[in-house]
Amino acid sequence: MLAVQEPALAAGTVTCVATTSLVKGARASRSTIALKMMMAGSGLIFIGFVLLHMYGNLRAFWGHDDFDRYAEGLRTFGTPDLPYGGLLWIIRIVLIVSLVIHVWSAATLWRRAKRARTVKYQVKKNKASTTSSRMMRWGGVTILLFLIWHLLEFTIVKVSVNPDHQGANVTQDPYNLIVASFQVWWLTLIYLVAMAALAMHLHHGVWSASQTLGLTNSERSRVFTKRLGILAAVVIAGGFSLVPIFVLVGVIS
Ligand code: HEM
Repeated sequence: MLAVQEPALAAGTVTCVATTSLVKGARASRSTIALKMMMAGSGLIFIGFVLLHMYGNLRAFWGHDDFDRYAEGLRTFGTPDLPYGGLLWIIRIVLIVSLVIHVWSAATLWRRAKRARTVKYQVKKNKASTTSSRMMRWGGVTILLFLIWHLLEFTIVKVSVNPDHQGANVTQDPYNLIVASFQVWWLTLIYLVAMAALAMHLHHGVWSASQTLGLTNSERSRVFTKRLGILAAVVIAGGFSLVPIFVLVGVIS
């Protein structure tokens, strides 16, 4: 009698595993789609924030007084109904909650994807289409590291890395602090690298969020969403880059 052998195993090259079981420990509330929805929602909140923040930064082109008036206006907005800095604290709380949700969902999805493939691909070729999605993880980590530095520099500690411009009249004055900071070439470079990471993250993130929200069902909507991703990346990351570049070349001083 003819012995029936597994063709894949006999060939010794193909490892094909199909499973009907769910990932161990998965619950409906933590389903992949729920996590993706949370990433998309928190991501959209960030897009709203960075758009407003980028617009606010451009006020540096209007000079010292206009920029500082804007920074102070953020704190006095809604007073006396709101306490001084009340709006800023509402924004901060929304951002912190969004950040926790965004990072936690990303880490959970990342771990889940790794766990789902316990056997490594024998040949792993990354197609062009997956390049930006792989970059999402490392871009996200880069943006997070940037954000920690950024908040220490401009908000929490307020430090000037410019040895020629030190003291309270620099660190306690938002306009003076950005001018002193971006006159230092390596700091401007760090910001531009971070903005490149932000651009890639936004480019793919807009596409990914639209897919999760079911907005890419037709060819037209896919083309539109891709263009929207490029537009968001160029406008936001490009807009943010203007102030550091124009300070470095001496136009904003
Ligand atoms: C060239 C790019 C950027 C510049 C020049 C810049 C500048 C500033 C400045 C001057 C402040 C202090 C504002 C104040 O105290 O009134 C600030 C705060 C902040 N920035 Fe940026 N920023 C940039 C990019 C970003 C990006 C890309 C993000 C987010 C990913 C971000 C997130 C924040 C946050 C969360 C705060 C704290 C707001 C607060 O709680 O007071 N910034 N930024």
